[in-house]
Amino acid sequence: MDKIKINGKSDLYGSIKISGAKNSALPILVSSLLSEKDLFIKNLPDLEDIKNMKKLLNKFNVKISSTSEVTIINSKDIINNSADYDIVRKMRASVLVLGPLLSRFGEAKISLPGGCAIGTRPIDIHLEGLSKLGCKFKIEDGFVIGKVNKMLNGNYIKLPFPSVGATENLVMASVLANGKTTIDNAAKEPEVQDLINCLKSMGAKISGEGSETLVIEGVKTLNEAKHEIISDRIVAGTFIIAAIMLNKEFMITKVCVKHMESLINLLIEMGANLIINNDTIKVLPSKQINGTTIETAPYPGFPTDLQAQLMALMTIANGDSKIRETIFENRFMHVPELNRLGANIKVKKDIAFIKGNRTYKAAQVMASDLRASVSLVLAGLCAEGVTTVNRVYHLDRGYEKIEQLLEKNGPIIIREKM
Ligand code: UD1
Repeated sequence: MDKIKINGKSDLYGSIKISGAKNSALPILVSSLLSEKDLFIKNLPDLEDIKNMKKLLNKFNVKISSTSEVTIINSKDIINNSADYDIVRKMRASVLVLGPLLSRFGEAKISLPGGCAIGTRPIDIHLEGLSKLGCKFKIEDGFVIGKVNKMLNGNYIKLPFPSVGATENLVMASVLANGKTTIDNAAKEPEVQDLINCLKSMGAKISGEGSETLVIEGVKTLNEAKHEIISDRIVAGTFIIAAIMLNKEFMITKVCVKHMESLINLLIEMGANLIINNDTIKVLPSKQINGTTIETAPYPGFPTDLQAQLMALMTIANGDSKIRETIFENRFMHVPELNRLGANIKVKKDIAFIKGNRTYKAAQVMASDLRASVSLVLAGLCAEGVTTVNRVYHLDRGYEKIEQLLEKNGPIIIREKM
């Protein structure tokens, strides 16, 4: 397990180009399972989660080749329809293979993500939706096993919550199903729309993307297609927050501004000085950043994936702040670690109370999940002294070689292999 050492109070200058969105890339890689033809993917990010997804697809005998520009993926000769615990435990998104495998082969076997029972979190919405399309499930030896009689049949599905993963799974399952499927209360996240755009370029018939009602008319087969993945709004947001925290002039390029409205509006309201163009955001030093109150929400609301980074900023803002986390339970694991770095944050149920006007001081901290770990990096960048972040493999799941990227722009971050 690697660790990184961050030299705090470093300078930050220049610009960073944002890579492809991890949360688009994962379902788009999986969507290739629906087709016998090649899928050409551009702008695939170089991340641990992507490597793990490729490993999982390789186990199904999916052929994947890459040049520096494009990844070519072909699922013609699939031989296996089972996803084992060793991969699923590392990456919850593995469950996305369920819909496409059931659709194409009528059978699939996926290890349950740790500690989960059928009918409860975290994949009950996926399974209930797939059952509506005609799939029967049983649980055996820690696996969920799905079987379809002949083929999936279109139906009306209303999701109890606009789950991103369940929407993606159900859209993929419906694309080759018999007849029409309507998904109500669907997730509207840009990454869901990106998956739908990719499926449409493969020949799927889908309408309503970006709204809460998706209509899918089943087709017989899909065609060869090319797709470029949208840029990662969470990575872009993380670097914007980093520049604001260090109060430096810094440019973020290849940004999809329209996907980032909730963050941009909030940061401007807090006092940030941003110059926004078509696909660039320039952060300029600001006079003062003020605390605020916000809650996370499904898109277009404030993303839970930027909650930890925003909290790192709120700690050094002028005045106190509050964040209510409405998407995930227990997504405040970064709080004790930020407190070790000098923050003063208290959590009561789903609300974090953040004292402002604090100063970060270097310490040894432990990363607990992907977004939590990057919030510690942000705090470390502002801290006096050298901060050590342990267990950075979480960071590698979602940020492309963050230390190399940042080092080119001033901050000194050293990775130590364990
Ligand atoms: C995706 C993103 C993740 C982001 C999240 C919310 C990917 C790979 N990951 O995760 O980065 O934080 O959306 O924007 O795209 N739930 C259930 N039952 C289900 C499914 C979900 O109870 O069957 C609950 C979850 O436990 C959670 C909430 O619904 O509390 C949101 O989950 P969901 O939108 O499904 O997130 P993911 O697709 O897992």
